Amino acid sequence: MKRVVYLCLVCSVLLACSPDELSVCSPDGNTCVTFSLNDDGAPRYAVSKNGKAVLISSPMGLKTERMDLTRDFTIMNSTRATHDETWETVWGEERTIRDQHEELTVMLRHTSGYKLHIVFRVFDDGIAFRYSSPDRSEMTIVDEATSYCFAEEPHVWSIPWRTEYYEGLWTKQLLSQIDTVCSPVTIEMADGSYAFLHEAALTDYPAQNLFADGSTLRTYLTPWKDEEAKDMEAKVYVRGRLNTPWRLLVLTPTLPDLVASRIMLNLNEPCAIEDTEWIRPMKFIGIWWGMHIKTMTWEAGPKHGATTANMERYLRFANKHGFDAVLAEGWNLGWEDWKSFDFTTPYPDWDMDHLSRFADSIGVAIVGHNETGGNAASYEQDLDSIYRYHAKHGIHVIKTGYVAPIIRTMDGLQWNKGQSGVRHYRKVIETAAKYHIMIDNHEPVMPTGLSRTYPNLVSQEGVRGQEWNAWSTDGGSPCEHVTVLPYTRIMAGPVDYTPGVFHFENPIIPTTRVHSTLMNQLGLFVCFYSPLQMACDLPEHYMEHPDAFRFIEHVPCDWERSILVDGTIGDFCIFARQGRGTDDWYVGGITDDEAREAVVPLGMLDSDKTYRVTLYEDAPNADWFAHPYAHNIKEMTVTAADTLHVRMAPGGGFAAEINPVQ
Ligand code: NOJ
Ligand code: CA
Repeated sequence: MKRVVYLCLVCSVLLACSPDELSVCSPDGNTCVTFSLNDDGAPRYAVSKNGKAVLISSPMGLKTERMDLTRDFTIMNSTRATHDETWETVWGEERTIRDQHEELTVMLRHTSGYKLHIVFRVFDDGIAFRYSSPDRSEMTIVDEATSYCFAEEPHVWSIPWRTEYYEGLWTKQLLSQIDTVCSPVTIEMADGSYAFLHEAALTDYPAQNLFADGSTLRTYLTPWKDEEAKDMEAKVYVRGRLNTPWRLLVLTPTLPDLVASRIMLNLNEPCAIEDTEWIRPMKFIGIWWGMHIKTMTWEAGPKHGATTANMERYLRFANKHGFDAVLAEGWNLGWEDWKSFDFTTPYPDWDMDHLSRFADSIGVAIVGHNETGGNAASYEQDLDSIYRYHAKHGIHVIKTGYVAPIIRTMDGLQWNKGQSGVRHYRKVIETAAKYHIMIDNHEPVMPTGLSRTYPNLVSQEGVRGQEWNAWSTDGGSPCEHVTVLPYTRIMAGPVDYTPGVFHFENPIIPTTRVHSTLMNQLGLFVCFYSPLQMACDLPEHYMEHPDAFRFIEHVPCDWERSILVDGTIGDFCIFARQGRGTDDWYVGGITDDEAREAVVPLGMLDSDKTYRVTLYEDAPNADWFAHPYAHNIKEMTVTAADTLHVRMAPGGGFAAEINPVQ
């Protein structure tokens, strides 16, 4: 369904001598942007919400090797447009998304003659803008001046910009205290409202980073690695028409509104894939956790994980317990040195023809795995033959990996989130689409909503995921970590965190473990959104708690509607989601190391129906350290007028399945 309700364009020619100020407000009139040129012809913008300043006059523009596009402009013209459209997601947190905004394009002319357009879009829940140009040119951008001058200094949740693969613990600091950090950041405003600052539609441009200058955030684009002088580092090679990613600032009064914002997706282009029938969310298990807890190996040998016999065992288990697929890592040559991976030659103890036939015969898919060790260049050269090989064996989803702090791209050694890395990841997605292959990208560039355009980019890592609880020498992630992610990293897009550890003793590093109760692991399946969702533990560990495992068997990973019921960043999170195409609801809660009572009003249920709830909750004596497994499972009947009250233990959580009574 695609419904363009109303689109109008109004052109207004401005006299060069008119006051150089233009404003545009959101459809509800409450969020406004004012653009101006100062006496130096330098572009500035300011943002207000409900009549109160959010950003005061903030610099904009670009610097190229030859032109200073941060000043010496005149306004030539401006256009306005109104947009209201509802579009249907291929998969998502909800079936339909409304894109309603007001647009203002300011057309500037630089003293050099260069034409720069700044396009603003203002939504009820935030603002965005991008730089573009009608001129074709070859130029090197050395800096982007985009700044965010906050009227009052807020607190910012962030990770440092060089955090490898974005796998860090998020911290909250006063804005002026942060160093250079990755995009996105989540902001607790001084007046108690919230903001989310990120970018959308990152295309042929480096990922943005941000740094503090008093209570202003400024942009630091990820540089090309071969330039040493910081102030003249090459950031972007522009060949043709400039069209930057959108700079995006979501502004909402509450956290549930922040989490519900879909501006980032709306700023991306509509789906570029005509037939999307082959793209489908999947819940899967994998030959994976065994390698991280070192009971199995990726490379062939006595403990080899990806053998024909082991994969058959996993496929049978998946079939019996209703999983869509099984991932296998370590099936292909190259794991001895992590350098010379071969993506079309299995180890001798992996019979690809047999396994693909067997998987097909029992209706379970195989999730392929392509770990490049950071050698993106050689992967890219062979993409067509690699994907042809996988498609021939019925493999239509591949987890890709780039374990290397700096990847080797077609342009040499580069940051994965620099322009060259961004180009590589895009090439992978576009090529995969030709072979009907979905991608789950590990060690990615931070998502920016591209999966609206390429829904075969289904999930990504880019997070300190569950694997750290197997081998990190710092003891594993603290309980708080999972209660930060829904409001920070996951705001940027689906996350392959790999929830679902059911056995907490660690055979390798006894002091490192999952800081969580069993029920918290269940809650993650609802709180952490990923349409490729891997239940990460071993089949034999799931069989230690078959009663709790039932929730994982039942919970879907594609949704009709999603609601953040309650939460605070770094404390707790409660989500309710309706399974796509069903009347079933799933509620999940997670808390940090403090016990809390979850209060869940059931007003989202149909008022004329009665429902049966299966509630999976921490037992009264449960806590993540001493009694992580203690839980109770209860059944009850409810209506939309009821409220669930559930106690979450320290490091605990809960899950509920709510089905209409037939
Ligand atoms: C790191 C990934 O995050 C993990 O999931 C994978 O098992 C290893 N790399 C090997 O590719
Ligand atoms: Ca990783």
